[in-house]
Amino acid sequence: MNIQDEKFAEFEKLSNEEKVKYFQRNGHLFDMIISQQLNRQVIDDLFKITNQVRTIAKSKTGSIFLQGLLRHKRAMLYFTQPSSRTFLSFENACHILGMRTSEIRDSRVSSEIKGESFDDSLRTFSSYTDLIIMRHHEPNRAERAAWLLNSYSDRAVPVINGGSGADQHPTQAILDIYTLLRSFEYQGGLEHKTILMCGDLKRGRTVRSLSYLMKNFEGVKVIYAAPPEFQMRSDVIEFLERHKIPCTIEDKNLLNVLPKADAIYMTRIQDEHDKVSGESGKTDISNFKIGKEDMNKVKPNAIILHPFPRRDEIDVAVDSDPRAMYWHQERNGMWARAGLIAYIFNVHGEIMDY
Ligand code: NCD
Repeated sequence: MNIQDEKFAEFEKLSNEEKVKYFQRNGHLFDMIISQQLNRQVIDDLFKITNQVRTIAKSKTGSIFLQGLLRHKRAMLYFTQPSSRTFLSFENACHILGMRTSEIRDSRVSSEIKGESFDDSLRTFSSYTDLIIMRHHEPNRAERAAWLLNSYSDRAVPVINGGSGADQHPTQAILDIYTLLRSFEYQGGLEHKTILMCGDLKRGRTVRSLSYLMKNFEGVKVIYAAPPEFQMRSDVIEFLERHKIPCTIEDKNLLNVLPKADAIYMTRIQDEHDKVSGESGKTDISNFKIGKEDMNKVKPNAIILHPFPRRDEIDVAVDSDPRAMYWHQERNGMWARAGLIAYIFNVHGEIMDY
């Protein structure tokens, strides 16, 4: 342990509420690391900004206006874990706002292979760019990057977490909540809806980050459907209990709860986190999939979501059902991330005034 490890260990002991303050500047969102940072005000602001960005971007003049907003800024995409959607939607979100981007997508091509520490690598990235967007296989790396750049560097550069181990994926939660709010805009909002999450809840960071946001919506009920081996971890269950959010566990069959849900959030098995290769394959997940005929059990106004990539937990035959929202959700990711970056850099006022 060097002195930075010791200081970071102290920081890690802080409560999430204290960390939320640390990731702010003048009361405004600066780093985006954990979804506990997202209160109702921020969620509603991001919803409006994102809607406005996508509307403005429809015309050539509007699109050129957006590209002028952050033309003077550069972003670094540091993704050392596989990614298609998060990487591409962030890169294109940067481009929508005129930011130029550089990338490292494999630690074997960075100086980490020569023994450079994570901290030194991150400080290096911050020397050249104005925003770091990162994905890492370890749970606390984005947090460490934000802590490091806020406390040690004279160049405080915001850090956005694009997925940290099996822990959090807050910007996926932003786009998921954006999709939910858009879908239920004329059905009374997300309040009093039942959200069903299914699949590998234990290691799926998307369902963890999304669960934390539920405290912002009155009367929401949560159902977790997964075999016992993949059920939601106790920290999230305790969070829901603390915030008095009713939560039901279904560990036998998705079909038992499918008719109750207003939103069904499917996920794949996260077998990259298996300690022994292939151990996930020993768990029977056949009762936790949706086929075309199962759609008869789904409410007529419900929506089906998936962060992607999918395997066979949603049959492709479901894609043509109007309740299948996942391809819209995927594209929403780009708009929602553009909205978030605009908000972090405080250019959202100009967007709203356009
Ligand atoms: C998710 C991820 O990486 O956590 N994908 C994504 O970002 N859209 C979900 C997954 O990999 O299953």
